[in-house]
Amino acid sequence: MTTKVHGNHGDFAIEAKGLVKRFKSGKSFVEVLKGVDFDARHGDLTMVMGPSGSGKSTLVATLSGLLRPEEGRVDMLDVDDLWKMSSGKIDKFRLDHCGFIFQGFNLFPALTALQQVEVVLKFQGLSSGDAKRRATAALEEVGLGPRLHQRPTILSGGEKQRVAIARALAKDPQILFADEPTSALDGENGQIVIRLLRRAATEHGAAVICVTHDPRLEAWADRVIKIEDGKIVDDQRHTPDPNAVLASHH
Ligand SMILES: Nc1ncnc2c1ncn2[C@@H]1O[C@H](COP(=O)(O)OP(=O)(O)OP(=O)(O)O)[C@@H](O)[C@H]1O
Ligand SMILES: [Mg+2]
Repeated sequence: MTTKVHGNHGDFAIEAKGLVKRFKSGKSFVEVLKGVDFDARHGDLTMVMGPSGSGKSTLVATLSGLLRPEEGRVDMLDVDDLWKMSSGKIDKFRLDHCGFIFQGFNLFPALTALQQVEVVLKFQGLSSGDAKRRATAALEEVGLGPRLHQRPTILSGGEKQRVAIARALAKDPQILFADEPTSALDGENGQIVIRLLRRAATEHGAAVICVTHDPRLEAWADRVIKIEDGKIVDDQRHTPDPNAVLASHH
């Protein structure tokens, strides 16, 4: 008997084939993803790099059930062909298994750091007590124990991004999507963030998919995938250096 650890797709958390995404532009269509095959493994920090407009955010959106591709399929965890499910089931899947971190933090202005994290856990069905315990632990893990009761307006950019990371990690997601998570941060805060993503992969076994422009982040990656003009042009495995330093240029 074999033990099923990660669903039907072995080590792959995501396996996508032939993704095509088109957007309407006047009377014609622009093809933004031109038949992309993509996979990502549990425990890997997979970096997706490429020029502005190459389709990185579009790829993440089609992989994560946010944007329906015109062609292709996405297998994730124990789901065969994500886009065949109803939108309600896709939303539920995303809530249960995926964490998201974006450049703009996406925090609720009125909520404290603790509440930002609790709200997601309660929405997932945890009791108030459990949500509070898990949220506190997640914020402590990112070094925000002393900031639990503060609202976004008085938090620094680096602290806000750490709240967003705690919110994404609190549910212990099997897949973590990060789109330019360090681009609004200085070197020191960028380093804190990329180390937390590294740790989510290594210690929590998450498949971390991180879109970035910053070649300095490659030092932490297990794999670097390059995309240009809607096509994967390079895919290299890499030995991460968890002690790499993201020097700040001032
Ligand atoms: N909803 C949309 N409607 C029309 N065109 C879109 C839409 N979303 C994205 N595009 C176009 O698709 C292309 C790829 O966009 P995408 O956001 O995926 O690029 P990106 O690689 O993430 O770029 P950046 O590094 O600037 O974030 C761009 O030319 C963009 O203008
Ligand atoms: Mg983008």
